[in-house]
Amino acid sequence: MSIKKKIVFIPGDGIGQEVAPWGKKVLETVAEKKGYQFEFEDGLMGHVAIEATGSPLPDDTLEKAKACDAILFGAIGHAKYDNDPSLKVRPEQGLLKIRKELGLYANIRPIRLFDELLSASSIKADILRGADILFFRELTGGVYFGEKNKAEDGSFASDLMNYHRYEVERIARKAFDAAMTRKKKLCSVDKANVLETSRLWRDVIQEVAKEYPEVETEHIFIDNAAMQLVKDPKQFDVVVTANLFGDILTDEASQIAGSMGMLASASIGDEVGFYEPIHGSAHDIAGKGIANPLASILSAALMLDRSFDLKEDADDVIHAVEQVLREGYRTVDIADKHISNDFVLGTDAMGQKVVDLLNS
Ligand code: IPM
Ligand code: MG
Repeated sequence: MSIKKKIVFIPGDGIGQEVAPWGKKVLETVAEKKGYQFEFEDGLMGHVAIEATGSPLPDDTLEKAKACDAILFGAIGHAKYDNDPSLKVRPEQGLLKIRKELGLYANIRPIRLFDELLSASSIKADILRGADILFFRELTGGVYFGEKNKAEDGSFASDLMNYHRYEVERIARKAFDAAMTRKKKLCSVDKANVLETSRLWRDVIQEVAKEYPEVETEHIFIDNAAMQLVKDPKQFDVVVTANLFGDILTDEASQIAGSMGMLASASIGDEVGFYEPIHGSAHDIAGKGIANPLASILSAALMLDRSFDLKEDADDVIHAVEQVLREGYRTVDIADKHISNDFVLGTDAMGQKVVDLLNS
């Protein structure tokens, strides 16, 4: 069977330019080994796209993205915009637009802790050991996309938070389907004691839950969830939540995996899949060659699994990452004080280790 896929490669901003090539290299390595044909096309998005074209998401990138099988993305953002809220054209608009245009309503963020990294987290090892959470963050609705207003004189601003039933329903089904393949446990996170959108959210989750009688469903408030996540992360299996809550909770949850530099994500809808690390452009370390490429490499693994149905190849990549960690190699973000300097690698040396193992 010949496998032929078209992948749009968008490294984006900051460390995206350094780590995303390693996700791509891993895909190329798998393709070469297995005789698959992966054809790559480059796309611009973010600050680099604004500089080159004036737009954070040029039409050309969007067209390519609509016509491909999957997208590998790096990171977005630039300190210049963070420190100047008045700038109207912003890199993040590119990411939000591509999510909306491609209908990527489900953002899947697996929180997987490699045993080797138990001591890299700021959370105690015995609390972490065995934690394995699959987050479903709603990605094309909620307060991110509601109407925005700002008074001319700067005295007032508002962002509308809204949800339609169908938006909750479709992500709920994806999360329940995933729960059926795991521990049959689903936790929905909301703020239904205060927010009308959360009361709708809870209502719909309860309705969809009836279609999955085997799944044990619970509802907890976002403030409690934020606390429980560090108190006892093992209590969670599949978590489903709204856009803003999921953005915040998954950054917090990255500490369970040791570092943001380890977490991959898949954004999916009904067609093309979009794969990216959950970390940002990290301009403070960009250009230094020290960023962790493993989140991009694990994003490539997610692509193999979810978009191309190549589970075995995805597992090979994950095992290669595991093996490199077992051999003691670390990037600086996951190196604890027991790791000797010889084992602390830069971006390229770490990426190459994974590629070498895949080739061996
Ligand atoms: C993420 C990021 C984005 C978001 C930013 C860059 C717009 O934080 O993917 O989690 O808030 O969704
Ligand atoms: Mg975020």
